[in-house]
Amino acid sequence: MTAFVRLQNRRRFLETHFDYLALAPAAAAIGYPFLLDAFHAVVGTQTVSLPPLAIANATFILIAAFVVPFLGIVLACRPTPNPGSRRLAYASVVSPTLYVFLGVVQALIKSPIPDEVAWCAIWLAIAIWSQSARGPVAAAVPAVGDWRVVHGVTAAVLFLYVVFHLTNHLFGLMGPDAHATVMKFGRVVYRSAVGEPVLVAAMLFQVRTGLFLAWRWSAAAHDFQRTYQVASGAYLSVYILGHMNSVFVYARSFLGIPTDWNFAIGAPTGLIHDAWNIRLLPHYALGAFFVLSHLASGLRVVLIAHGVDQRSADHLWGVCVAMSAIVAAAIVAGMCGVRIGALAS
Ligand code: HEM
Repeated sequence: MTAFVRLQNRRRFLETHFDYLALAPAAAAIGYPFLLDAFHAVVGTQTVSLPPLAIANATFILIAAFVVPFLGIVLACRPTPNPGSRRLAYASVVSPTLYVFLGVVQALIKSPIPDEVAWCAIWLAIAIWSQSARGPVAAAVPAVGDWRVVHGVTAAVLFLYVVFHLTNHLFGLMGPDAHATVMKFGRVVYRSAVGEPVLVAAMLFQVRTGLFLAWRWSAAAHDFQRTYQVASGAYLSVYILGHMNSVFVYARSFLGIPTDWNFAIGAPTGLIHDAWNIRLLPHYALGAFFVLSHLASGLRVVLIAHGVDQRSADHLWGVCVAMSAIVAAAIVAGMCGVRIGALAS
């Protein structure tokens, strides 16, 4: 039986039977904050050294939290006939950053409702919508016109800021002073009277074009690489909106605090031992990881369009994804207190 016939049979099966797996992304997303709560229950608020069993438990729980967005990517690849189910899977990918966004909005409006309760209500609503939103069968390659080109050109410009910004955070591995020195240098450009509005406008434009492309591409099933590109773009769209809300609205306007190293690491408690801050760890790690690997996905498409054979382009993409993971892990390690000097001695 050819792969095509198998795919058709699977489609027919899903059209005639209720697709229980379609709701798995919502179940995983609903469980996400409870995994973070469980992590906090294990590590507590004190920076005392934990017994090995507690460290193993905490690591396992944190890995389970990281599985939620990647499960969403895998499920978004499925050839389901309902685009709502596929979009639900894509939506679950953004869970780590959406949960931070929700927490900040809850703080801004001084909501008395616990974040977990609001979160469950939101996901139940999204799950119900996903099963009622049935659309016509979509074309495998959507009509997105010049939007792809526009999105790619803006990305090439924003790449400069992103590389500087992430390099700045890598300096955290040398300590807060090194991080502050590099930031002071960069702020001359990106926080200038011209630089900042241009940067913010370009970011918002990128989110707008990115969400448009993601909506179009998510109407049909695609191979893993394309699904990954759409999913990482969806994550970044929510990440950028939430991140700018945290920096400009919450920190600088609402709290009136500087957006420095202490703000980023959730001082004084830090990322690991605070019940709220632990959500920042997957949020930041995946923000850095997805922005770099999403750029690699764009590069892969451009290379293939310019005649590079797919195997070589895929190989390069794989290398870039691995490097993105290393950079993201290094940034978060620095934010959690790991120092290069300490590792060398
Ligand atoms: C580990 C990951 C990240 C951390 C810890 C982080 C943290 C921060 C901090 C502390 C600021 C304030 C900077 C300042 O006051 O000068 C900031 C600003 C900003 N970040 Fe990030 N960021 C991260 C990743 C990203 C990514 C991946 C993007 C884009 C996709 C991004 C986009 C921005 C933008 C647009 C601003 C506003 C810059 C301005 O002040 O004008 N960040 N970030």
